[in-house]
Amino acid sequence: MRKTALKTLLLGFTLHLSIVHQSTAQPINAQEIEQRIETLMSQMTLEEKIGQLVQKTVYGPDRIEELKDAIRKGHIGSILNAGDLTTANTLQKTALEESRLGIPLIFGRDVIHGYRTIFPIPLAQACSFDPELVSRACSIAALEAWSQGIHWTFAPMMDISRDPRWGRIAESFGEDPYLTEIMSVAMIKGFQGDNMAAPGKIAACAKHYVGYGAAEGGKDYNTTLIPESELRNVYLRPFHAASNAGVATFMSAFSDLNGIPASGNAFTLDQILRKEWNFKGFVVSDWGSVAELAVHGFAKDNREAALKAITAGVDMEMVTPCYEEHLADLVRQGIIPEELINERCANVLRIKFRLGLFENASPTPADNVLLAPAHLETARQLAIESMVLLQNDDWLLPLSKDKTVAVIGPLADAPHEQVGCWVVDGSGNDAISPRKALEQMLGIEKVLFAPGLEKSRSTDTKGFKQAVATARKADVVLLFLGEENILSGEAHCRAFLTLPGAQEELAKAVIATGKPVAVVIMVGRPLVFKEACKGARSILYAWHPGTMGGPAVADLLFGNAVPSAKLASTLPRTVGQVPLYYNHRNTGRPPVAGNYNIPTGTPLDPVGFTANYLDVSVAPEYPFGFGLSYTTFAYSNLQLSANQISENETLRISVDVNNSGNLEATEVVQLYIRDKVASLTRPVKELKDFRRVTLKAGNTQRVEFELKPSDLGFYLNGPELIIEPGDFEVFVGTNSEQTLNATFALTE
Ligand code: GLC
Repeated sequence: MRKTALKTLLLGFTLHLSIVHQSTAQPINAQEIEQRIETLMSQMTLEEKIGQLVQKTVYGPDRIEELKDAIRKGHIGSILNAGDLTTANTLQKTALEESRLGIPLIFGRDVIHGYRTIFPIPLAQACSFDPELVSRACSIAALEAWSQGIHWTFAPMMDISRDPRWGRIAESFGEDPYLTEIMSVAMIKGFQGDNMAAPGKIAACAKHYVGYGAAEGGKDYNTTLIPESELRNVYLRPFHAASNAGVATFMSAFSDLNGIPASGNAFTLDQILRKEWNFKGFVVSDWGSVAELAVHGFAKDNREAALKAITAGVDMEMVTPCYEEHLADLVRQGIIPEELINERCANVLRIKFRLGLFENASPTPADNVLLAPAHLETARQLAIESMVLLQNDDWLLPLSKDKTVAVIGPLADAPHEQVGCWVVDGSGNDAISPRKALEQMLGIEKVLFAPGLEKSRSTDTKGFKQAVATARKADVVLLFLGEENILSGEAHCRAFLTLPGAQEELAKAVIATGKPVAVVIMVGRPLVFKEACKGARSILYAWHPGTMGGPAVADLLFGNAVPSAKLASTLPRTVGQVPLYYNHRNTGRPPVAGNYNIPTGTPLDPVGFTANYLDVSVAPEYPFGFGLSYTTFAYSNLQLSANQISENETLRISVDVNNSGNLEATEVVQLYIRDKVASLTRPVKELKDFRRVTLKAGNTQRVEFELKPSDLGFYLNGPELIIEPGDFEVFVGTNSEQTLNATFALTE
């Protein structure tokens, strides 16, 4: 039933687009754009060229006249956070009609996981392992944002993150470079389409370039120390793919990269991005990250910050005044050549031309685009595909709809929390909470709600009595735990990963009733929750699932949909294990399973010296790629097309996947490799491909992959991809730990 509904609704979405299609804008060819840039720049003064490198934000109505004055003088090229279509059109009108050359402004906005229709947080979307659906969600976000005058989003964020203490892990695609690469490209294609000038398309932004997610201690904005080989093999990979996919812009990060802040780092911004990758779009700094070069101690003041950033490769300064106050003087004093300003300005104009802004800078507002039914249905589908089933003892789930359920926990009815940490134009007012969705599905009389706590951080337990009493009245308890959305996101990092407030105590009190309990965790990061959930039968990791998170939870709990999501981020047993990620190196003394809890009086004996802790297993609570279903899948008959390939041959891998349960379901079949010996130590596993496979109960499908020698390569300390002959392992399975294995050799 669901597929038909979805197809009908998506047809509606396509029709929407045709309404919006005022004109089918053809992309202007690259050569014509370069000619138009040259012609325009020949007419521009130095101040007007510098104006294109300045982005200002709208703080409120009192700022409008000040901004309009600067726009008239050609001193602003971009506006961040214009807020609404009326303001955007007012400022654009000033640029087009009252400035000397009428160069259009480009309006930027953080459309991170939806504009008004809010999708699950990006970390949840990554768990769908469904790039096509993620791309479709971004095309919806682009259409909604474009209809409100936005030309450019500061997404996708593609920072690899291995530390759940870091609040922005919520905005990332998790710990794996390949999955991050696939999801980033999917988002870029969704936002930009094949022609950014087409109605409903906006420019994307690869951020935060680069290494921001490696912040020491999981503290935002903190120092990052990343050797070049690790930079190239892990952190740069998604950005390289984004550049190759034609992303319009990059955003330079706040963080200090090996002592050279990313927003003043010529090695990454010029050598790699421009010279090696031939990127032709433009780089915008992060909010104030140019001026912050002085705070880092990399520049002595705004003037030197401007000099270092413009020289390194930052084309546009976000909101701080270094460029507008100092660049003209730096040119006139001969400290920087005007040619550098010309190059930076051309990069910005190039994207404005590609967006078609010189032909149509102000969209014709389209009706009923925001929160269109087809958009909400896509949000519901993506939320369903993002929620990870971690435990389901004795097949408690899916529940039958004749049950009376107790819905416990403050996050069960907190629509403003479930939409997640990066919501600028969306609202919890549009969201349907799990409680409301369950009432709609089962009837209000069968849903007994008791929050137990006021908020996720509350410690006042006076509501426990009612929660326990409510649990006793029900057939099944649905216990909602997790974090308010403000506890993740930018600058919102935690030193502990336990459930905030008195949620653990609430869980224990409710579980102690002996009623069957299914836990639903609504959160922006990996948490530590197993102890709190001891005695619960089922655990569904729902993340912050967006506008339609409630209906998605209800669909999964009651079997209208079957879980298929897989973890994009390792879930640790304790914060003490962090950083903990599957694609780690082997070390010279790899841990031995179970080798901890050392007995008193153990003699000092090197034999037991391995990379273990004394007080906790080194194993994760749940590994990367893990996720259960309401059926089971059996893997068999792993075959390789050869036991060795030369450097111009392709290896074909195939495996039988059987749905050995009694429900149609989707499995994400994962392919990993390991390079056993190389001139750089390689991870014990690396994700190289995956397939979403939908199987009816009892059916088997032969799933095939291909590996080319270039898939086996790695970087040392330079741009050359090193492909070394040697022995490799192949792993195919349902997660990064449960796999069938085989070996092959790559020969000269
Ligand atoms: C913020 C974020 C960045 C965002 C920008 C504009 O500080 O770091 O991701 O796009 O500023 O809001």
